[in-house]
Amino acid sequence: MSFASQTLSGTKSEQYAQLLEQARGLMQGETDRIANAANLSALLFNALPDCNWAGFYFFDGTELVVGPFQGLPACVRIKLDKGVCGAAASTRQTQRVHDVEAFPGHIACDAASRSELVVPLVKDGALIGVLDIDSPRVGRFDEDDQRGIEAIAAAWVQALQ
Ligand code: SME
Repeated sequence: MSFASQTLSGTKSEQYAQLLEQARGLMQGETDRIANAANLSALLFNALPDCNWAGFYFFDGTELVVGPFQGLPACVRIKLDKGVCGAAASTRQTQRVHDVEAFPGHIACDAASRSELVVPLVKDGALIGVLDIDSPRVGRFDEDDQRGIEAIAAAWVQALQ
């Protein structure tokens, strides 16, 4: 197993396929959610261009609590009716926000964030948390990014026992 992130190449979908393989490699044989979330945050933060935050929030039964991440320190707790993360968690739908300043209730943890992609993490019908990626560029995330990050989020859920 290689711990070093390999260079990505090809089309965007091909690069996401390579990133997914790297993610699976990092989580191979490991079920600990903190360990896997920590490594995925580092993988995504370093592999994705133009991103200033990548990490996890876990659902504690009441609200979202920050988990492993890369980027500036973030809000610790987010209620399910607040922010982009709360919207992803409560609707269980990926939130791809072109411009966070146009999203009602967006929580600005890092003032540099201008667009955001938040994928809900659900296992056997239960909400576990969200995977959140922020960018300082408006419209940073397109459908390919959404599909790619959703596949990586699904691999993280699958690694849980
Ligand atoms: N912007 C998020 C809060 C989390 S930070 O981006 C890390 C939101 O509106 O839910």
